[in-house]
Amino acid sequence: MTNYNPFSLDGKTILVTGASSGIGRTTAIECSRLGAHLVITGRHAENLTQTYNLLDGKGHVQIVADLSCPADIERLVALSPVIDGFVNNAGQGDFRLIDYLKQDIINDVYQVNVFAPMKLVKQLLRKNKILSGGSIVFTSSISALLSAPALSVYTSSKAAITAYMRSCAVELGPRKIRANAVLPGTVETPFTSNTISEDDVAKDKELYALKRYGKPEDVAYGIIYMLSDAAAWITGTSLVIDGGRLLK
Ligand SMILES: NC(=O)c1ccc[n+]([C@@H]2O[C@H](COP(=O)([O-])OP(=O)(O)OC[C@H]3O[C@@H](n4cnc5c(N)ncnc54)[C@H](OP(=O)(O)O)[C@@H]3O)[C@@H](O)[C@H]2O)c1
Repeated sequence: MTNYNPFSLDGKTILVTGASSGIGRTTAIECSRLGAHLVITGRHAENLTQTYNLLDGKGHVQIVADLSCPADIERLVALSPVIDGFVNNAGQGDFRLIDYLKQDIINDVYQVNVFAPMKLVKQLLRKNKILSGGSIVFTSSISALLSAPALSVYTSSKAAITAYMRSCAVELGPRKIRANAVLPGTVETPFTSNTISEDDVAKDKELYALKRYGKPEDVAYGIIYMLSDAAAWITGTSLVIDGGRLLK
């Protein structure tokens, strides 16, 4: 009775991209605490090893890969064991007004936020590396649903990956593989540090019903829910995790 936990990840193997920082790091650590074996990947080796050293339990794997590099994506798939869960979390932002956008900026952001997840899902499926009963989770953003000046590339990339998630849910359902997205509001990570002044942060937090930004754990627990068997009948869903930001 004491071990009863429908949200446990005991015995599951989970691949997390963007595990060298922020939401991905915390997700990997929390997954390991719930009994999962982790395959963590990120671009910077030192930061990835920091995450690796914080994982609970044994048998975890770390693979350095730059998701803007097709050869690295292939190597990541080749080195990855068969997995139960896949967290597509690595992401890149851009803050530029539409008039100042350049093709290479658009390419860079879309490469990491959209094309890499699409390639990874395809290649993992082709190599039968996602088990039946598996779960794919995409870290999207509430930016997929609203916008602000200078966010056009980022918001459109998150809308694209959210739509792609729904296609995964439809196509992979017959294989008993689920696909869902989490849509966080602003979370305190290196991704958002120092982008606006303290005064503007205080004003922005007022837009949140809970009057604060998120912590990586707030998002990690939503991802874990989607990975766990407790979400066995949930697919194609966008789970907003935003402290009530979308209410305003
Ligand atoms: N923080 C927020 O407010 C917020 C809100 C909504 C959604 N999100 C989304 O949440 C996800 C995680 O963001 P975060 O806040 O945790 O940011 P973060 O702390 O900056 O982490 C971003 C992660 O993505 C990885 N990454 C970026 N470019 C990469 C590339 N070319 N190849 C491989 N890995 C790459 C980074 O790896 P390295 O550090 O090793 O380069 C890092 O591990 C992103 O998809 C982001 O869009 C964040």
